[in-house]
Order: sequence, then C-alpha cells, then structure tokens
Amino acid sequence: MTGMHSFDRRSRRLSWRVLAYALRRIRMDPPLDHAETEETLRARAGRTVTENGLGGTEALRIWREVLAPACISVDHPRFFSYVPAAPTEAAGLFDVAVSAANVYAGSWQEGAGAVFAENETLRWLADLAGLPPEAGGVFVSGGTAGNLSALVAARWHWRSSGEGRESLRGLIVASRSAHSSVSQAARVMDADVAVVDVDSRGRMDGDGVRRLIASLSDDDRDRICAVVATAGSTNAGIVDDLAGVGSAARDIGAWFHVDGAYGAAALCAPSRRHLFDGIETADSFIVDPHKWLFAPFDSCALVYRDPVTARAAHSQHAEYLEVLHVRNEWNPSDYAHHLSRRPRGLPLWFSLATHGTKAYSDAVEKTLDVTVEAAELIRRAPHVELLVEPELSVLLFRRVGWDAAALNEWSERILAEGVAFVVPTSWQGETCLRLCIVNPETTAADVALVLESLR
Ligand SMILES: Cc1ncc(COP(=O)(O)O)c(C=O)c1O
Repeated sequence: MTGMHSFDRRSRRLSWRVLAYALRRIRMDPPLDHAETEETLRARAGRTVTENGLGGTEALRIWREVLAPACISVDHPRFFSYVPAAPTEAAGLFDVAVSAANVYAGSWQEGAGAVFAENETLRWLADLAGLPPEAGGVFVSGGTAGNLSALVAARWHWRSSGEGRESLRGLIVASRSAHSSVSQAARVMDADVAVVDVDSRGRMDGDGVRRLIASLSDDDRDRICAVVATAGSTNAGIVDDLAGVGSAARDIGAWFHVDGAYGAAALCAPSRRHLFDGIETADSFIVDPHKWLFAPFDSCALVYRDPVTARAAHSQHAEYLEVLHVRNEWNPSDYAHHLSRRPRGLPLWFSLATHGTKAYSDAVEKTLDVTVEAAELIRRAPHVELLVEPELSVLLFRRVGWDAAALNEWSERILAEGVAFVVPTSWQGETCLRLCIVNPETTAADVALVLESLR
C-alpha cells in the first residue's frame, strides 16, 4: 500500500472526524449562507493543493470554516430559488455509504446488487406513471443528461424506422415553456426545434401541437423525431396536456417524451395525479430525485417504455466490452450517454425502502398544501399580486411598484441577511418573483417572512 492508501491511527482519527462532520451536516438545521468572491476565498483558504499536502485535519477545517459556508444551503427551508432540494436523512446517509462502497454500476456483472435496487426504484416510478411491465431505464446525473439521452434514443428510433433518414437532421417539437435543456440537447445532437405556442399559463396542448405540425412542410414533418411535453414547467410549475400531446405525437408516429424533471415527483401525490393523465402513453419520461423526491445531487431517473430501443441507441461496443453483451443482463450503461457510472439511484432507493412510498406521497402533499396556503397569503397581501394560479409547487408573483433593479437589490439583501434565497425571474416579459417549494420543512410562515420583507 502507498502512504495514501494505508490506514494508521492518524488516518483513523481523520476518518471519524470526516464522518462526524458528514453526520452533523446531514442532521443540522443549516444556515442559509452565501457565496464569497474568489479573492476572499483565496485570502481565507490560502493555497490548498500543495506538494506535500496540508493533512486531512487542516483540509477539513478549511472546508468546514471557509468553503462550505460559501455555498448556499439548498436544503434550507427558505431556499426558494431555481429548484431547491431537501434530502431525507436516510438518503443523505446512504449517499455516504454508496461512496464508501464505490460500486461500479454500469453493468450487471459488476454491480448486480446495486442495479437490482436501482431498478426496484425505477419500477416504482414506472408504475406511478402507468408504464408497462417491460419499461425500465437508468439513473443519470440530472434532467439535462436525461433529456439528452431520451432524445438520442428517440432519434435513433426515428432514423431506424424510415428509409434515407441517416443523413437527415432530426426535428424536435417542444413548447415555448420547455426547459432550456431540450434546446441544448438539440444543439448537441445537431437537430432542430419547432416551437409550439402555449396558453396564458404557458401550457401546451394537443391542438397546439397539431397546428404546429400542420404548419410544417412535408419534408419538415418527416424530420420530426420527438415531441416533448413538460410535466411541471420550471418557471411556473404548469403541466402540459399530456394526453393531448401524446395523442398528437402518436398520430404521426413520433416518439413522445415527457420532461418531468421537476414536476413528475407529484405523480405520487393523489391530489395532483390527474394532472399527469396521458403520461402512461409516453415513450420515455424523466424525473429528478434531487429535486422533489428528497435525494441528494445528482440523480435523474430516466424511464423508457421500450428499453430495447434505448439500448440499441446507447450501447457501446468495444473488444473489451463485448463480454458484457454475451448474457442478456441489464447493463445500466446501455440506456444513456455514459459508460462508467455510480449507482446514483441508491440514496433514493434506501430512503424509499426505509420509509415506504406512503411517506413520499405525504411529504409531496405537504409541500403542495403549503403552496396553496402561501398562494392565499399572496392573494391577501396588498403589496404583491399572484401572476399564475399554482398547479404544483411554484408561486409566481409581482411586487407592486418595484422594477427589476429594486427586486435584484432586495434579493441580494435578504440573502446577505440570511432571511431567504429568492432570485427574480420573468413572466411574459415582466421581471417578477418566483418561489419553488419542495422542502417539507418549509412552512407558510417562511413564505410570510419573505412577503413581509417585500413591504
Ligand atoms: C423541467 C426541467 N427539465 C430539466 C431540468 C434540468 O435538470 P438538471 O438541472 O438536473 O440538469 C430542469 C431543472 O430545473 C427542469 O426543471
């Protein structure tokens, strides 16, 4: 063993310190914290990568005292920006265990136990969506990677089901409210995007898709390789008309992908399940456990109706890998744009196995209830105005009389004061405010505090 790999008394002490830090961090009510400039961090941390090393105790001190406080705590109950995260203690702890085991979860041969557990978790999600028993997929790093991998499978399917498509650019149909990762995937794939108009809440429906398709030339219609619906738009939390969009996609034989990175967690909430009617017709969908399913970064569940097609699109072939394809085993590497992978579905699996699925339904319902209460607070307050009736757990509202500069100044101030993290967004061209609630610890009183600070 090298000095770096041996375990002596000093390294045992360090192990306990690191584990104690991890446990404390998982269990604590975290301070909100905020970023520092690079100069400040440089001055406080000094040079950390040196020829002979600082020693673990000092490196841990620098992390704990200087670097960690320069990261905003995503799990703080008043982290309302972007899409927050609130891992359960079980999920956080098991992430530590997963790192300790360092399982290679690209193949069944090397990681059967981990892959089995991940697949149990994917099965729960596929069942919630109503996909058939043969559905399956893989956990990837995030929604961006999930959308890209699904769309690559969709294009492979399109190309292999028609003559002369090998040299054609694919065309992806998606709404104006689709997440930026869809157009980014198109750029990576050298494909085009045809944009469908949405209603006043940003919702795409089947008629809109049909109108867009009818407006295309015959050549462009032939290029459609996927229709993408959003189940929970990031900016407003609105679910597209999945049944209508799915039907429009089916009529032209196009792959139907549902981006539920944020919103599809609410599949497990009985009060909102109806919003997702039609997802059972999807060829693929994604949902991010690191958003609203209480798992740590990074984790996106990507589920295919027909994994055989996805495998044909993504499987890597090389002399040294062919041994993996001899037996017909489930190799997660085959279902996305990756090869080596950690079993990033395991923190969610462990938490689900520990608490049961009902605890998940209850926790998501709780965040939805708080959103409803918070919307009422906004409706009642004279200085703010709700812009969109919330469908899931996003609140969009304006501060009457404040422009973008005032909102930005307020946003920075309340973060610096440790009150809340709320960044402005825009809605129909107007800079406004947005709160996203995915943390069951967040209460209506937390939202009231934000509204009070806006007076
Ligand atoms: C609907 C939707 N799709 C995709 C993404 C991208 O997910 P990630 O940040 O995990 O790549 C997001 C992120 O917020 C999202 O809300």
